[in-house]
Amino acid sequence: MNQPSSDQSLPQPFDRDHFADPYATYERLRKEGSVHHIRLPDGSPVWLVLGEAYVRAGLTDPRLSVNKAYAGNGYKGFSLPPALDANLLNIDPDDHLRLRRLVSKAFTPRYVDGMRQRIESAAGRLADRFAERLAADGSADVVAAFANPLPLTLIGDLLAVPEPDRQAFSDRVNTMLDPGSSGELVEAIQYIHRFLLDLVAARRALPGDDLLSELIAARDEGDRLSEDELVSLAFLTLMAGSENTQHVISAGLLVLLNHPGQLAALRADPDLLPQAVEELLRYINPNQTAIRRFPTEPVDIGGVTIPVGDTVLLCLAAAHRDPARYEDPDRFDIHRADTAHLALGQGMHYCLGAALARMQLQTALGTLVHRFPGLSLDCPADQLAWRTSFRSHALKRLPVRLVS
Ligand code: HEM
Repeated sequence: MNQPSSDQSLPQPFDRDHFADPYATYERLRKEGSVHHIRLPDGSPVWLVLGEAYVRAGLTDPRLSVNKAYAGNGYKGFSLPPALDANLLNIDPDDHLRLRRLVSKAFTPRYVDGMRQRIESAAGRLADRFAERLAADGSADVVAAFANPLPLTLIGDLLAVPEPDRQAFSDRVNTMLDPGSSGELVEAIQYIHRFLLDLVAARRALPGDDLLSELIAARDEGDRLSEDELVSLAFLTLMAGSENTQHVISAGLLVLLNHPGQLAALRADPDLLPQAVEELLRYINPNQTAIRRFPTEPVDIGGVTIPVGDTVLLCLAAAHRDPARYEDPDRFDIHRADTAHLALGQGMHYCLGAALARMQLQTALGTLVHRFPGLSLDCPADQLAWRTSFRSHALKRLPVRLVS
């Protein structure tokens, strides 16, 4: 069992090799325990929690706060203007409860169901262009041509971003997710902040049938969302809604291409799609170290007492490969009976976009699998480029070609 050690002597398990196969790192660490005091590549000391039972319990432990006021000196993380930072993911009860109730009034099952048609037609349009590119060049990148633009199109629809602004908007979101430099990141955040302020003002003046207009209209016993709350919610929606979804589409397709028998079964029986998506969310959940919590009092996790001021990272991806929870966890199996997972969180911060995420993943992967039966990887598997972000596990590119 790991006991607290001085920051300088902490191991740094996330080296360059880690990004090609993070699961190998987790397996190696798991042999020494479920909870590890490590240093992240940015220098922050953190407690990395790998065991499924501890991760699950941590997600609902009221002593583990999401509020950065408890973060102490160790946590670096994403630095945002206060107006963008004050979003659901960083707020504890009772403010969280109040906000979530208001937001849920806009994010209704009826509203989400109404998005199905838009998602299907966006996927169809992107697939048409993807087919043209494959025919013209013999090869195409699934990330650039499909996985990245699909969720961004949906976010553009949810927030009713005017058509002429969409490219600049998408470019800045992509820069925020994968900045080339800190200057680029600051510029992108400032641009998006300004853009969202203008968008909220425009929707207030002229409401439409978009999520932002629904949020502006949402009221609860006289209470309503403030300007900052609206802007930070719109910001959270675009960050949370675009990053994970695109990674599961591209890495999910890669997993299917690497398992031709299961891909064939999926093609033969489209009814398998929902459970295939659940198994993909377990098997390649992109959330590596994005789920962080701060103890409000000393908390014991797996026999280690974690003090106030330290940072706990609940590693969903590692939890999903825990042999104490899943039988043969490294086997991808779309017929697996136990499809429960933590990919969309648990407890009060459970993913607000879960239904939309599932709808997009099923539509995207269903479209790719059925429209392109001859799809094949267009580079050796060991030459695939992965992002070197320790927050999420993501392909930079997924080059494919059609074989007859
Ligand atoms: C495959 C896609 C997705 C995955 C894997 C995912 C995963 C998650 C997880 C794990 C959390 C909980 C974080 C925590 O406990 O700290 C979360 C929260 C959230 N997600 Fe998602 N998400 C996805 C797609 C989406 C989409 C499409 C949207 C919206 C359009 C969305 C909006 C949100 C929001 C607003 C929260 C914060 C909820 C709260 O704090 O009350 N997500 N998501």
